[in-house]
Amino acid sequence: MQNNIENKTVIITGASSGIGEATAKQLASKGAKVVLGARRADKLEQIVTDITSAGGEAIYQVLDVASQAENDAIVKLAKETFGRVDAIFLNAGLMPSSPVSALKTDEWHRMVDVNITGVLNGVAAVMPEFTAQKSGHILATSSVAGLKAYPNAAVYGGTKWFVRSFMEVLRMESAMEGTNIRTATIYPAAINTELLETISDKGTQEGMKALYDTYGISPDRIADVVSFALNLPADTTVNEFTVGPANQPW
Ligand SMILES: NC(=O)c1ccc[n+]([C@@H]2O[C@H](COP(=O)([O-])OP(=O)(O)OC[C@H]3O[C@@H](n4cnc5c(N)ncnc54)[C@H](OP(=O)(O)O)[C@@H]3O)[C@@H](O)[C@H]2O)c1
Repeated sequence: MQNNIENKTVIITGASSGIGEATAKQLASKGAKVVLGARRADKLEQIVTDITSAGGEAIYQVLDVASQAENDAIVKLAKETFGRVDAIFLNAGLMPSSPVSALKTDEWHRMVDVNITGVLNGVAAVMPEFTAQKSGHILATSSVAGLKAYPNAAVYGGTKWFVRSFMEVLRMESAMEGTNIRTATIYPAAINTELLETISDKGTQEGMKALYDTYGISPDRIADVVSFALNLPADTTVNEFTVGPANQPW
């Protein structure tokens, strides 16, 4: 099978753990040049060391996706280091779920800042480049919570529904404008990562932990999906992937 991943420069946000880390390692093993962004420099440094020791190409820059300037800076770094940018995986996110009645308003706003504004900032940072070169691939991690509403996820789910709608319109407009910017939105179910650590509401965390202990699968499964999307020929898009444990009803 043809390797369309080799030599692509791919920026990954939320690359310091979980899905982002697994994806960075897998893409690098397939020959991509990966540019890792997240807030924890020590984690990013270790992942870059792991990738380069295995013969891959990777760099990192500390990134808070809520900052437009920091998103612009990581795109600039990718371009200066590797010559061009082919894809961005907008994956940074957090899920401090709770019932609305708990009024954890700081957490609501933080989810909006990272899960929504972070995606907008990443798109704004790459669009000029992708539009000018008439190619580019924008991938984003939504969630099954972006497809179905469920208790304790009013705000988290809302942020992920936003990603779904935004990415679909981006795909349509790109096709209409002839810019060949492809999109892929991923809707994972229970994936074993550090995500549950962001839940401060005790009851919600216990319930989610029990669910993940029963069903959770490896973040490598999401990396497989990202690889599949990036490996497609330039004239083809598979723009939505719902992926999760085979035994989870979700
Ligand atoms: N795990 C699941 O079951 C599941 C299911 C559906 C969707 N998702 C989505 O998958 C994505 C990845 O999460 P994960 O499951 O891999 O959990 P994770 O291990 O907690 O990873 C989250 C990543 O986001 C980064 N991040 C958080 N806030 C950030 C910010 N302000 N700026 C930049 N990076 C930030 C974290 O790095 P730093 O802390 O170093 O910044 C970390 O690398 C999220 O969007 C999540 O909503 C996960």
